[in-house]
Amino acid sequence: MTKAVSDSFPVSDNVGRMQASSTLAAMQAAEALRAEGVDVVDLGPGEPDFDTPENIKQAAIEALREGKTKYTPTAGTRALQQAIIGFYERQFGATFDKAEVMGTAGGKQAIFNAVVSLCQAGDEVLIVKPYWVTFPEIVTFAGATPVFIDTEETGFVLKAEQVERAITPRTKLIILNSPSNPSGRVIPPAEFRRIIEVLSERKVYAISDECYLRFVYPPAEVYSAATLPPELRARLCIAGSFSKTYAMTGWRMGYALAPREWVRQMLKVQGHSTSNPTSISQWAATEAFNGAQESVTTMLEEYRQRRDWLIRALCEVPGFHCVNPEGAFYAFPDVRGCLKGEVKTSGELADMLLKEEHTVVTDGAGFGAEGFIRISYATSLDRLQEGVRRITRIAERLTK
Ligand SMILES: Cc1ncc(COP(=O)(O)O)c(C=O)c1O
Repeated sequence: MTKAVSDSFPVSDNVGRMQASSTLAAMQAAEALRAEGVDVVDLGPGEPDFDTPENIKQAAIEALREGKTKYTPTAGTRALQQAIIGFYERQFGATFDKAEVMGTAGGKQAIFNAVVSLCQAGDEVLIVKPYWVTFPEIVTFAGATPVFIDTEETGFVLKAEQVERAITPRTKLIILNSPSNPSGRVIPPAEFRRIIEVLSERKVYAISDECYLRFVYPPAEVYSAATLPPELRARLCIAGSFSKTYAMTGWRMGYALAPREWVRQMLKVQGHSTSNPTSISQWAATEAFNGAQESVTTMLEEYRQRRDWLIRALCEVPGFHCVNPEGAFYAFPDVRGCLKGEVKTSGELADMLLKEEHTVVTDGAGFGAEGFIRISYATSLDRLQEGVRRITRIAERLTK
């Protein structure tokens, strides 16, 4: 990666090499058009279109009324830690100690803490392509080197052999993300275990980003790395999030589950940067894990219906090829069949959709997968149908 040159500000080497978020850029483009009164179909969002469930909001209101508005321990309140531990015990039969759990400002901060407390210049960090845009940037910030594993040959589902081939004596860490943003693909549990066994043999650390943990549609099954036996979790950090599951993106609540020494080091990073996650959000998150889960079930069923409709519809779009994603809320079609004439890259196709059809999709190149686009179905079925009509008009023209 080359360093961005700035004449007006003496940016540090590590931050200078970082790229601004391409997914946020798509959000801003949609916002600008909407402000002009244009009827935009926004298939860009990386966040649920549902409101935060009422019981969670009420817990926050009560916390506010009761004056729970002060600093908490950096790792979060005892109640939050207990809620996280209890959730993993009930759902996955996994036991964690308080010293292995910390609350964070979103899953993003958990990943940030985990990477910067472990990695430095000279270390290689394996990142699976296509990847969530933030992974390589955090690695770069830490001064380490991202090394990419391309998974196109296996339909974007990581295999243990691919990990084995990519490990070198400098490999310190791998970042896993299943269900994946952007592909929506899920690593089957048996394969996930084989991957961790390979890592364990080679003494490589792993972050399992489980931000979309519950977004798995039958027959695929919800799977957490927490179900692995303790010996396979010795170098594993789970990064979790309340953002997507409970439609809480703005509350900024996530958590990390890791061996106690890793947590101790992460607490130093967080303690000297942001300190505790917002106290009121912690009470909301505590209710999210302890309270009724019906709203989650309802939201997941709605996502499943949209996915089923969307994938079938995208398979009919000329020049598109789309596999069925088992999880998350994204479709990630291969659009190379449309890139033969007027438009040469997926970025140009995304630009054309925005300019000519006022439809926002995210260019796959930002996720390390040129030739693909990400379509979010965290939007109503009506808008999805309108979006696919607009995409089809452009695709028909490009494939004529
Ligand atoms: C793969 C992945 N991991 C982590 C996050 C972080 O989410 P948050 O910081 O809101 O918990 C996101 C959000 O888009 C994501 O897509």
